[in-house]
Amino acid sequence: MAFPENFMTELTERNDIVSVVSEYVQLNRRGGANMFGLCPFHSEKTPSFSVSPDRQIYHCFGCGKGGGVVNFVMEIENISFPEAVEKLAKRAGMAMPEQSEDRESKKRARMYEINKTAARFFYEQLSTPAGAIARDYMDRRQIGPVTAKNFGIGFAPNTWDAMIKALKEKGYSDFEMYDAGLVKRGKNGGFYDAFRNRLMFPVIDVRGNVIGFSGRILDDGEPKYLNSPETLVFNKSRNLFALNLAKKSKSGYIILSEGNIDVVSLHQAGFDSAVASLGTSLTQEQARIISRYTNQVIIAYDNDSAGIKASQRAIGILEKLDLKVKVLRMSGAKDPDEYIKTKGADAFRNLLEGSENQVDYRLRSIKDKYDLSVDEYRVAFLKEATELVASLPGAPERQVYAKRVAELASVNGDVIAEEAERLHKRLVSKAYKGEIKKSARPENLNQPTEKSFRYENPASAVAEEGIIRLLYLEPELFVQALPEPSEFTSPVLAHIYTEVCALLGEHRAVNTSALAPVLSSQEMSLLVSIIQKPEILSDSRRTLADYIDRIRSEKERTGTKPDFAAIMRSKQNTAYEKARK
Ligand code: GTP
Ligand code: MN
Repeated sequence: MAFPENFMTELTERNDIVSVVSEYVQLNRRGGANMFGLCPFHSEKTPSFSVSPDRQIYHCFGCGKGGGVVNFVMEIENISFPEAVEKLAKRAGMAMPEQSEDRESKKRARMYEINKTAARFFYEQLSTPAGAIARDYMDRRQIGPVTAKNFGIGFAPNTWDAMIKALKEKGYSDFEMYDAGLVKRGKNGGFYDAFRNRLMFPVIDVRGNVIGFSGRILDDGEPKYLNSPETLVFNKSRNLFALNLAKKSKSGYIILSEGNIDVVSLHQAGFDSAVASLGTSLTQEQARIISRYTNQVIIAYDNDSAGIKASQRAIGILEKLDLKVKVLRMSGAKDPDEYIKTKGADAFRNLLEGSENQVDYRLRSIKDKYDLSVDEYRVAFLKEATELVASLPGAPERQVYAKRVAELASVNGDVIAEEAERLHKRLVSKAYKGEIKKSARPENLNQPTEKSFRYENPASAVAEEGIIRLLYLEPELFVQALPEPSEFTSPVLAHIYTEVCALLGEHRAVNTSALAPVLSSQEMSLLVSIIQKPEILSDSRRTLADYIDRIRSEKERTGTKPDFAAIMRSKQNTAYEKARK
């Protein structure tokens, strides 16, 4: 158990979900029992985010996110379960219980330690004779020793076991290295260094923990970069390279670039607020994290078609969070690194100061496609540019840019403004109709928002959801005969069910805070949507029996046995066994 149950009960009682959520979202009452507001997890104009003071849960009908007060803090602050608990304890003026360190946080701490030790090892390799090849490479890329030290850049030697040996001497086991993604396992079961003959960039989180590595090849080979796999502490979509340094910048903005080398080069040239996403395109989570440190982002992606496309995408994600976004146009260089090296830091600073906001940038990209002295192209330009204007959410914005478009094409501004308004209305109503249609399609009825959870057998899944809902709402039913999790057709429902049973088996309360450490945020969201569906509780034993019958008759009808090997292997199942004994 992560925290004592009575501590968790007091914590949730003293942190009413309405008051906690209200610190982030403006909630209004709309008659019924629930409060509503604009969802902080996706962009919307009409409130679909609801908070139930009775059940102490939140749920967004738009994006499907949901959970209890602890989940809310985890999600909105992007922190782990124990961190959210600590934050809420502080908020309520409660002391943390002794011995609050659970197994997982110990494992985490150990993984930070092993990563740090590996980082130190790689760094030391730079100054060995074998490291000459990496030093030469850094010379060629003009990465100086101070920069190398600031970033902790190192070298993974070209052997199969140099790192393993060094870490073993410090007391770490093969399996610990394996869990940290530092070694791989061969066919014969032996372990070998995952990173070999690469320039190593440690990825460091904002608290200063080494959470993973990016290793760049020293020549033109493939793959160019090798990144740590997802581990207990490393999540590519929730972290940014160099944010640990950039968060201290006084510049007032964050520079978002694509490559590690670009980031290193930017910092070296004095642009200390540069970050990069970790080998993927920018994610919503990363944007949310950035928004915690700044309200202005300058995109400095590569100057090729992929980079331009990625910029457009990033603009969309960032502007949803009300960040001011500007885009750099680096003519004559393929990326920030090359720009700084060929034109110098001052030239780059000029570029930064003059960089355009996103609408200007998009408008300019459209304009550059057409020769406006030819009538035919001018018409094509007007069409595309007006569509852009129509897509802007704010009316004043549309007005300003309609005028700009008109000027560029030397036509009457009122005409463009009117056309943009007309198109805008059409876009809004089309989006609205699309939503309605989507939710009305029969195959989408009762399907989870999260696509990977899609039910294979919706009829059985309804009953599986029902069992979970009944147990959640009426824990006394646990004494009844219940199905095995392996009888469920939906793996995700089987997992939620297993966790609910595990709590009940330990005579613990079933609520969102008890489930928060064992369910993923998507699973929690699904659970919350399930418990919000109507249920007849007047004869709940009977209802439960009906649900069980439904599952079994569905199984007979389809005659298929789903593959539950994955679940049976999982530790959750042993929790179930234990609970039912
Ligand atoms: P240079 O070519 O040396 O300037 O490298 P760079 O650091 O600027 O990287 P580049 O612009 O080529 O790529 C941008 C980012 O994409 C890198 O920092 C990596 O995170 C990621 N990336 C590039 N190549 C690979 C690859 O082969 N595998 C993976 N997983 N990620 C890659
Ligand atoms: Mn690059």
